[in-house]
Amino acid sequence: MEPLEVVATAVWAMLPAYVPNNAAVLAGGGRPIDGGRTMGCRRLLGDGKTWRGTAVGWAAGVALALALNGVAPAASDALATDLPEFPIQAAVAVPLGAMLGDIGASFLKRRTGRERGAPFLGVDQLDFVVGALLLTVIVAPGWFADTFALPVLAAVVVLTPVLHVATNGIAYALGLKDEPW
Ligand code: CTP
Ligand code: MG
Repeated sequence: MEPLEVVATAVWAMLPAYVPNNAAVLAGGGRPIDGGRTMGCRRLLGDGKTWRGTAVGWAAGVALALALNGVAPAASDALATDLPEFPIQAAVAVPLGAMLGDIGASFLKRRTGRERGAPFLGVDQLDFVVGALLLTVIVAPGWFADTFALPVLAAVVVLTPVLHVATNGIAYALGLKDEPW
């Protein structure tokens, strides 16, 4: 695989994991998933993980995956690569796994004494990637194996924190997010 193909495949396959968290920021509010419950005097997840944010983020990711399928042939031609298309299992699993990874990270943040919005270096940047890859390998193992050759996986792990920092910085600068992480 050419380097360009590796990077293009990595970004393409993970786009439906990148978008949900940003959509959740716009849609957040309403009932927290943990319903206010605590564990050892700290919130289970906190007010930053809501049903609405999770549902809207997931739906946005599924919609994006399906939209990418529509333009994959043209984009593949333009880049002279073979970009992956998302079977429905992958279109559902990639964004849902991303949301679940982010929720799992909030659980860890609360257990380690971090308040809502506190940074957790490394975890904030990779939680949704780990969640997306794990759920995808379970739900769509064939597609996972076809799409994520080792260099592609490596590109995902290296590029994701960079893209995450950039998009969150932009969202913060636009006033859409309270913290730049
Ligand atoms: N959000 C949501 N539901 C989710 C994820 C995010 O409603 N499952 C919304 C919340 O309004 C949240 C915002 O998106 O405040 C930013 O998301 P994030 O940075 O993940 O949450 P934090 O508020 O920083 O909380 P935490 O420390 O638990 O990550
Ligand atoms: Mg946060």
